[in-house]
Amino acid sequence: MTQRSTIYFASIAHCLSDPWVDGASALGYIKNGYLKVTDGLIDSSGAEADLSRDELEQCDQVDYRAYTITPGFIDGHLHYPQTGVIASYGAQLLEWLEKYTFPAESKFSDEAYANDVANWFIKELLKNGTTSAFVYATIHKQSVDAIFNAALSANMRLASGKVMMDRNCPEFLRDTAASSYEDSQQLIDKWHRKNRLLYAVTPRFAPTSTEEQLKLASQLYHENEGVYLQSHVAENKAEIQWVADLYPGFRSYLDVYDHFGLLGEKSIYGHCIYLDDADITRMADSGTVAAFCPTSNLFLGSGLFDLVTARSRNVRTTLATDVGGGTSFSMLRTASEAYKVTQMAGNTVTSLQLFYEMTLGGATALSIDDQVGSLAEGKEADFVVHDLQATDVLAQRVALAEDIEEQLFALIILGDDRSTVATHLMGERVYARP
Ligand code: GUN
Ligand code: ZN
Repeated sequence: MTQRSTIYFASIAHCLSDPWVDGASALGYIKNGYLKVTDGLIDSSGAEADLSRDELEQCDQVDYRAYTITPGFIDGHLHYPQTGVIASYGAQLLEWLEKYTFPAESKFSDEAYANDVANWFIKELLKNGTTSAFVYATIHKQSVDAIFNAALSANMRLASGKVMMDRNCPEFLRDTAASSYEDSQQLIDKWHRKNRLLYAVTPRFAPTSTEEQLKLASQLYHENEGVYLQSHVAENKAEIQWVADLYPGFRSYLDVYDHFGLLGEKSIYGHCIYLDDADITRMADSGTVAAFCPTSNLFLGSGLFDLVTARSRNVRTTLATDVGGGTSFSMLRTASEAYKVTQMAGNTVTSLQLFYEMTLGGATALSIDDQVGSLAEGKEADFVVHDLQATDVLAQRVALAEDIEEQLFALIILGDDRSTVATHLMGERVYARP
């Protein structure tokens, strides 16, 4: 039986390639265009005027003509159990973890509570146009079940994993090297590659793991085909000194992870602010991914990640909210702060480079670009419908814009969940602006 298709009428904007390499020609833009979706996958896109009468008659039609469709946004690093920690006052990283984060994460031993927060969290991502995310859970197995169940119900492409943490944290949040290994393996067997879900082995960061636990994390990473590894590195100066004290003899913080075999193309490290020259070379050579979390780095006073240097040194990068250290679920707001942080380093990124980081670039870094990140034929139809007239400030700025790049820049700097008209996963509309 042939599947009926849906045609969405809208302006269409997505990256065809990497604008850091190809400049403006990386953008595919069709004003007065259409996107055709069949069986959850992108079938084609083009100019509305080029659609034949036959094709129109055979398809369902949705009028988004007043709006612009882009690929769904990709958030490369955030913590769903920190939903309630967002906007916690006055502390830098290590104090913030003790004072706010660990107590909040302890509540996720309660399965019903974890389910409630996970469902709310997925809705909030979709409301902000985020369609793929790499999400930390807590040390509790049930917290991982909760976020995967919520993502499964929404049919979302999402990675998560149980936090592994066997020292230097409160007793009520501590596992053991052996139990973290067993729990993680059971969760991998249960969830990895179920529908659109992916497992990420998640040692929180070097200070909260014994060497034995890092060794076992590496085993999980290497023994299970296709799983990811996510952690934190070089975020805060006191944290770096702590790692130097806990792991004497290592050349650097990154070198600790390298020693245990925790770098690689499926390894994603949050922050990466204070990497030295040798670390940057090692990140690039190993294909390890840096997650740039500008709102978090500003909020916690951690420091300024230099995206332009990272990219010019061939480090793979993804943009990320890092909720709840980060202050917004919106990848538009996150990209806006990324622009400002990069300005502080004396560099200027283009609107297209920012747009790439939140779509195809993030997907490429996270090795999900075969499935998502652009609106190319055959990809999963995860897309967002944006209203460039959503607020008075945005509307007047877009009216003055000379081209689509300037319009996208205005959307990035001024847009947020108010500009998200609808979000679609595998073609299905899963969020509609009230
Ligand atoms: N380093 C270790 N854990 C965390 C966390 O939860 N948030 C941030 N921002 N940094 C961390
Ligand atoms: Zn984080």
